Amino acid sequence: MALAAFLLAVCVLSSWETQGSSAVTTVFVQKGKDLHLDVNKPVVIAEFHEFNWRFNASHSLVRLSPVNTARIVDPYKGRVEFSVQNHSLLLKYVQHSDSGDYTALITGDKTEPLAEYKVIIQDPVSPVQLSVDSVSNSRESCTLTVTCSTEDSLISSTFRCDNQTCNQERGEQSKNTTSGSSLRVYLFKGSIICNHSNQVNLTSNMTEIRPLCSPTAVPSLGIPIGIGTGAAVVFGLFLGSLIWSSDVTTVFVQKGKNLHLDVNKPVVLVKYTEFRWTINNTLNVVRLFPDNTTMISSSHKGRVEFSVQNHSLLLKNVQHSDSGDCTALITGEKNQPVTEYKVIIQDPVSPVNLSVNSVSNSTESCNLTVTCSTEDSLISSTFRCDTQTCNQEGGEQSEVTTSGSSLRVYLSNDFIICNHSNQVSRTRDMKEIRPLCPLNDVPDKGTTDFNLNQTPNQNATEDASCLSPNTIYSLSGPAAPVQSTETVITPNPESIYAQITKPQSPTTN
Ligand SMILES: *[C@@H]1O[C@H](CO)[C@@H](O)[C@H](O)[C@H]1NC(C)=O
Ligand SMILES: *[C@@H]1O[C@H](CO)[C@@H](O)[C@H](O)[C@H]1NC(C)=O
Ligand SMILES: *[C@@H]1O[C@H](CO)[C@@H](O)[C@H](O)[C@H]1NC(C)=O
Ligand SMILES: *[C@@H]1O[C@H](CO)[C@@H](O)[C@H](O)[C@H]1NC(C)=O
Ligand SMILES: *[C@@H]1O[C@H](CO)[C@@H](O)[C@H](O)[C@H]1NC(C)=O
Ligand SMILES: *[C@@H]1O[C@H](CO)[C@@H](O)[C@H](O)[C@H]1NC(C)=O
Ligand SMILES: *[C@@H]1O[C@H](CO)[C@@H](O)[C@H](O)[C@H]1NC(C)=O
Ligand SMILES: *[C@@H]1O[C@H](CO)[C@@H](O)[C@H](O)[C@H]1NC(C)=O
Ligand SMILES: *[C@@H]1O[C@H](CO)[C@@H](O)[C@H](O)[C@H]1NC(C)=O
Ligand SMILES: *[C@@H]1O[C@H](CO)[C@@H](O)[C@H](O)[C@H]1NC(C)=O
Ligand SMILES: *[C@@H]1O[C@H](CO)[C@@H](O)[C@H](O)[C@H]1NC(C)=O
Ligand SMILES: *[C@@H]1O[C@H](CO)[C@@H](O)[C@H](O)[C@H]1NC(C)=O
Repeated sequence: MALAAFLLAVCVLSSWETQGSSAVTTVFVQKGKDLHLDVNKPVVIAEFHEFNWRFNASHSLVRLSPVNTARIVDPYKGRVEFSVQNHSLLLKYVQHSDSGDYTALITGDKTEPLAEYKVIIQDPVSPVQLSVDSVSNSRESCTLTVTCSTEDSLISSTFRCDNQTCNQERGEQSKNTTSGSSLRVYLFKGSIICNHSNQVNLTSNMTEIRPLCSPTAVPSLGIPIGIGTGAAVVFGLFLGSLIWSSDVTTVFVQKGKNLHLDVNKPVVLVKYTEFRWTINNTLNVVRLFPDNTTMISSSHKGRVEFSVQNHSLLLKNVQHSDSGDCTALITGEKNQPVTEYKVIIQDPVSPVNLSVNSVSNSTESCNLTVTCSTEDSLISSTFRCDTQTCNQEGGEQSEVTTSGSSLRVYLSNDFIICNHSNQVSRTRDMKEIRPLCPLNDVPDKGTTDFNLNQTPNQNATEDASCLSPNTIYSLSGPAAPVQSTETVITPNPESIYAQITKPQSPTTN
């Protein structure tokens, strides 16, 4: 098995790895293991000469005199074994401090090196976890995004499957971690493999791709799918807007904006009671007494407006530190909550950039790959156009970024839209797809089921490439996978083209 082969390789590496042609051999050893170094040369020790194993040119580990008495130098006693026969050195239970240069040499009138090693002690690598972030399934294809992560590093990658094969977008993905190990995600025999390795150790995690992509699969995703899919989410672009959930109302506000909170209930203050707006049940932002005097906490003076009439609170220029539970209550013999809000302050989302990675076009189809990216996140997506319509492979793509915002790429009315949003703001970039995929509108023979998974009718454009005599187009379809078992008798494409009354499209060659 490959793992066995790897382990064997590790053992070889740890002991005698000889690499390069230089006289210095680099050896990697896992912390806690043994280091074995050979001389591999006849050693003749003349009178008054001495054989030495040295570390970093400064410390001796072993000294051997002509009369074959070997002496292990003090700090190494008990950790070093030395063979008087072949002069090999065994250093047990190595630690990071043992990294450095090891030299076997003979010292006489001059010092002559016999063997030189550069020893690098490495920790075993941390475990990896492979998690599935999103799966989108259509009848034709399945797209899934995974994240391979270690404690301090991660790679995301997208895989696409059609009927026959699965492919990794942009091929194997790899990354060097800060600790010098390498993280890789690749596809091998129908499995997604995530490996974390350095020269001495390997951890891996894998998952079979098909069970995730089968139409009935309901994978449990690592990250919830993007917002805005019909949930009762209200975007609060200016003042805080509200999401009702049980008794507590969640309010998202953009940093720097004003937060307005209402009570929406009659408040009656009898003697010895008071009304308060509190944050996190500790900070009394506003206090109102039965005689209508108010007290604003010093921490919020100048930033708060309070209405004695309706008891609403306006908190100006909110900052992240204003996040928390904001409660209106009446205190008396016991505290009686009136209204509760959970306030979440969000930064506006960063700008997005939609860029085209590749276009491949023929006369009857065009494939386009785009990347929708923000400063710290990206999604790639592939679009396929035939002469009639454009489709997004795997449908809309979305991802939740590390900051909790949602990044989406989708097709709408012939525009590719890259949208970055959170509850309080959004940015978008878009590109019209047709100018990028200029097709000669030459219908070609094809299957009759080309309407499957077609996006909702594209909007009419000046260039009538998508419209025109339906009776003719209904016979034609994409040139793509021709699976039809019937023979479709198709007139010469040029003659069909000639029948369509439409403006001359620009010639593309
Ligand atoms: C990744 O790990 C698997 C199993 O642990 C192993 O079989 C495979 O060879 C590794 N791949 C690479 C490229 O190291
Ligand atoms: C040298 O001797 C040691 C201990 O006897 C042995 O483990 C090692 O394999 C030998 N090395 C060579 C190159 O013969
Ligand atoms: C030995 O030398 C290496 C560089 O060659 C250095 O990184 C390491 O700290 C040195 N170790 C000791 C114990 O001096
Ligand atoms: C996919 O496979 C099914 C059955 O295996 C077949 O009916 C269908 O035509 C195939 N579709 C494509 C696009 O290859
Ligand atoms: C990782 O480091 C190795 C050696 O320094 C280098 O060859 C390789 O290109 C790096 N890989 C990546 C993905 O940066
Ligand atoms: C990696 O190191 C860990 C911890 O020492 C060990 O349990 C594991 O077997 C090692 N894996 C390989 C492939 O050497
Ligand atoms: C991958 O990691 C997950 C979670 O840590 C674990 O449940 C699963 O068994 C691992 N799979 C393999 C093949 O190591
Ligand atoms: C306090 O102000 C409210 C609203 O203006 C008013 O209805 C109420 O009578 C006032 N109470 C006192 C004690 O002045
Ligand atoms: C309220 O508590 C949350 C976390 O529980 C904290 O992030 C926030 O800063 C607190 N707000 C205030 C105003 O103390
Ligand atoms: C677009 O991709 C499809 C499926 O991978 C392929 O059949 C078609 O030939 C491609 N078209 C171009 C112009 O590359
Ligand atoms: C593909 O598109 C390019 C640029 O729009 C155009 O120059 C080229 O002729 C097209 N190729 C075909 C086969 O339509
Ligand atoms: C076409 O575009 C117009 C204006 O942009 C829009 O009002 C209309 O709903 C669109 N029609 C379709 C079918 O998308």
